[in-house]
Amino acid sequence: MTPKTNELLARATSIMAQAYAPYSNFSVGAAVLTSSGNIYVGCNVENVSFGLTICAERNAIAQAVAAEGPSIKLEEIVVTNKNADGKSIPCSPCGACRQVIAEFSHPQTAIQYRGKQTDIRVSMEQLLPDSFRF
Ligand code: THU
Repeated sequence: MTPKTNELLARATSIMAQAYAPYSNFSVGAAVLTSSGNIYVGCNVENVSFGLTICAERNAIAQAVAAEGPSIKLEEIVVTNKNADGKSIPCSPCGACRQVIAEFSHPQTAIQYRGKQTDIRVSMEQLLPDSFRF
């Protein structure tokens, strides 16, 4: 936990209301904290051609880049979810999102998401060891 974790959790939770998820009925919210201290949020945006779906994490990161430019660094990320019953279930960032998170993170960037009993917090290094780099 950092002083910003609760705010990130609240922002990720509230952005789930904006999710466009008519196919899965699974809403995801993400809030990212950049090194400048700003928070950006994103939700999942699905598409009838399923592969075009945009995940919440990548949406939030795109918002951060659009607002602050290409040199952003992510310090902390919180991801929330809500299934068709309105319940939060264990769900970690997908593989594609892990690689995109890695692009803008440092090895100690913290990623928090829903686990079985409670929230899980890991470092970028733990979430995607040996990520692809040139
Ligand atoms: N989803 C995310 O937004 N982030 C993830 O890391 C995992 C999956 C979304 C995509 C899709 O809209 C829904 O969850 C079900 O797969």
